Amino acid sequence: MLTMTSASLAGGQGKTTTSFFLAKAIAQKGYKVLMIDADPQSSLTLYLGHEVEENQPTLLEVLRKQVPVEDGIYESRYENLWLIPSDDGLETIQDYLSSTAMGELALKRRLKDIQDLFDVCIIDSPPQRTQICLTSIVAADELVIPAEASSKGLHSLLRTLQLVDELKAVEAFEGSILGILPFRDRWVGRTQAKRSEVSIQDMKEIGAGIAVLPSILESERFKQAIDTGKSLQELGFPDLEHPFQTIIEKLETKWLKHNLNPLMQIAG
Ligand SMILES: Nc1ncnc2c1ncn2[C@@H]1O[C@H](COP(=O)(O)OP(=O)(O)OP(=O)(O)O)[C@@H](O)[C@H]1O
Ligand SMILES: [Mg+2]
Repeated sequence: MLTMTSASLAGGQGKTTTSFFLAKAIAQKGYKVLMIDADPQSSLTLYLGHEVEENQPTLLEVLRKQVPVEDGIYESRYENLWLIPSDDGLETIQDYLSSTAMGELALKRRLKDIQDLFDVCIIDSPPQRTQICLTSIVAADELVIPAEASSKGLHSLLRTLQLVDELKAVEAFEGSILGILPFRDRWVGRTQAKRSEVSIQDMKEIGAGIAVLPSILESERFKQAIDTGKSLQELGFPDLEHPFQTIIEKLETKWLKHNLNPLMQIAG
């Protein structure tokens, strides 16, 4: 199982949007995808229309080792897509993770138990630099950093890269950064907004060699797709899928063709 985390240290950077559309696109290709909602705001759980009922295990119980990981996994309404949901109770995991030795490794260790059940795992992380954020990043083989095409986005990118460097320095993060994903890139007709253009150029400089992926365009269609449960393609906007298709191509080139056997089998 290849694990990928969507992380960016500010609110509204497109983390959940990326997790949701990317997971759906990968699942549509026939791969078995597990999504993990690692944000107490539980936006991803909401986007999937999943309601956590009382006494049902969530990521909280999984991380606390109160249940086997499998017990926290639920089918979603989409084919090939499963979810470990969260609710605001996940907030209480902070103390647990801080008081546990190597709390950053908690999620990575738990995921070892289900390595063979899925092809890809996508983790949606919270905007704050909390323990749950750290454990989500450390669990990743690949990291994607969405950042709004704005000064706030640049700031978020800087903070995220700094955190990744810190985690690398103590050998906690052993994955790689797949790319920076510009979010809400604004175009009016065929003209890109100056702010978007400048911000994306700055992302290339800040990233210093890290790939800057094709951007997620500013569009109401994403919200429409989430609300209706339809894909962007079904809504008649296949071009908006381009960033996710590019990420899948990169994953297939790097992981599928070389060392990810379960993916090879499913891909036929
Ligand atoms: N392509 C788009 N253009 C404009 N707005 C968008 C687009 N995609 C999503 N949005 C909206 O932008 C907002 C932020 O997106 P999202 O929730 O993915 O960010 P986030 O980084 O997960 O935020 P948080 O840090 O709060 O978890 C949401 O309200 C979402 O509906
Ligand atoms: Mg989010």
